[in-house]
Amino acid sequence: MVLQPDRPDWWRDAAIYQVYPRSFADGNGDGTGDLAGIRARLPYLAELGFDAVWFNPWYPSPLKDGGYDVADYRSIDPVFGTLEEAEKLIAEALDLGIRTVVDIVPNHVSNEHPWFRAALAAPVGSPERELFHFAEGRGENGELPPNNWTSEFGGCPWTRIADGQWYLHLFATEQPDLNWAHPLVRQEHEEILRFWFDRGAAGVRIDSAGLLTKEPGLPSFELGVDTHPFVDRDDLHEIYRSWRAIADSYEQPRVLIGEIWVPDTERFARYLRPDELHTAFNFDFLARPWAAAELRASIDGTLAAHAPVGAPATWVLCNHDVTRTVTRYGRTDTRFQFSAKAFGTPTDRALGVRRARAAALLSLALPGSLYMYQGEELGLPEVEDLPLSTLQDPMHFRSGGTDPGRDGCRVPIPWSGEAPPYGFAPEGVEPWLPQPADWAALTVAAQTGDPDSMLELYREALRIRRERIGGEFGWLPADPEVLSFRRADGFGCLVNLGAEPVALPGGAALLLASGPLAEGGALPSDTAVWFEILDTRL
Ligand code: NOJ
Repeated sequence: MVLQPDRPDWWRDAAIYQVYPRSFADGNGDGTGDLAGIRARLPYLAELGFDAVWFNPWYPSPLKDGGYDVADYRSIDPVFGTLEEAEKLIAEALDLGIRTVVDIVPNHVSNEHPWFRAALAAPVGSPERELFHFAEGRGENGELPPNNWTSEFGGCPWTRIADGQWYLHLFATEQPDLNWAHPLVRQEHEEILRFWFDRGAAGVRIDSAGLLTKEPGLPSFELGVDTHPFVDRDDLHEIYRSWRAIADSYEQPRVLIGEIWVPDTERFARYLRPDELHTAFNFDFLARPWAAAELRASIDGTLAAHAPVGAPATWVLCNHDVTRTVTRYGRTDTRFQFSAKAFGTPTDRALGVRRARAAALLSLALPGSLYMYQGEELGLPEVEDLPLSTLQDPMHFRSGGTDPGRDGCRVPIPWSGEAPPYGFAPEGVEPWLPQPADWAALTVAAQTGDPDSMLELYREALRIRRERIGGEFGWLPADPEVLSFRRADGFGCLVNLGAEPVALPGGAALLLASGPLAEGGALPSDTAVWFEILDTRL
């Protein structure tokens, strides 16, 4: 298997497609997406021109957190297929020029993982329990949790078991945290990395990468104290250095991609030093509102933070955890915040689509790599009226039902046809989450060949990006409500986030527009254009 040795730095400017396997394509007709479905659709991804695919977890899992509760890291959940099929998928994708990125979940395991089962069966103080964080409770009879931490999903991150001890889970109850101070935990994960690298994976996406290590003694969190007991701790870096050594030991070095939610950009960039991770998702950019000053600040901050460590930036608008772009950008508050999610938040779909199209051109023109979540190329909206009985996300349940959760961005992809399952599954099969009745115009088949569709905009933009866009980034002079920049190779991008149309720069030849231009060729509100800079003074 050859990972294109001619482009060892492919990750620096790659366009990476994110596949959520449960919802991509159902090959065996059980209503859940699977590897057979993905393999059949690889030509679609190749033709769109993606360099790599990141697969959300495909391991055996009780699915208490959409597969991020892993019971076995070296196998494939039977609902998706077999390990042999995964190996075939990796090889077939590579034949089409697409590399595979596998999701690694090191912070926690499923409560059905053999290690945790053994720990529950073993007595207090046993070596089996040392692989996790078991502790005595506070209070007279240990009836209070061991500290005051809160779960990333809300509520208490401790669960008490029959013998009176508590165990830590920063996410759902069914996701016990591993003890990263234990050498066996480290060794196991190094072997898991090798396991997937040996099978041809070009890289790994590291889940919750900023949370692995905990302060010894698990003290309560105190406001104003510099070091957080479990977020972004300094001892994480040593772990990632050892992972980098493994990734670099391959003849075609493998790539480490971190999921790190750390707001301090300088601390964030530390993970991207040359002997640590290669890249990390840009959540700052993802969370910003649709406002020129905010996006400009994010772009400047991102580039400034990455430059000293020599790492490429990444640009992300959406993923399987956040509100779909066309829905978010149509709201009054266009930021993304987990804490602000609520049922019944209105959105203007047409406005959201217009902005999402402009945002696509903005993010595809910036220097670095790009992650696009499945369905974004179709302009799928968040499904906000899923029947409550179909919701599965622990974020919904742990909020006491006030947070709609993340199911609305995980609805199966519409491929063709006039009604559900829209080619996602064979006719008559009900997908694991119901698809809306009004998605016929959003299918891949309906959008293909329609020059005004989101799919054709992405297709064309990806083609131009691949063939044409490169070199250093620099801002061009523009109104405060406008983002205008060039790349060293004479490529330019202009995004109008203001209310009034703006004139295109003189000496510019239009390459692509996210929407129709106004009379006289001006760029209307919430529209972006790509252009060739012909006037060398620009
Ligand atoms: C981040 C993942 O993206 C999310 O889906 C998951 O719930 C948490 N990590 C816990 O694994």
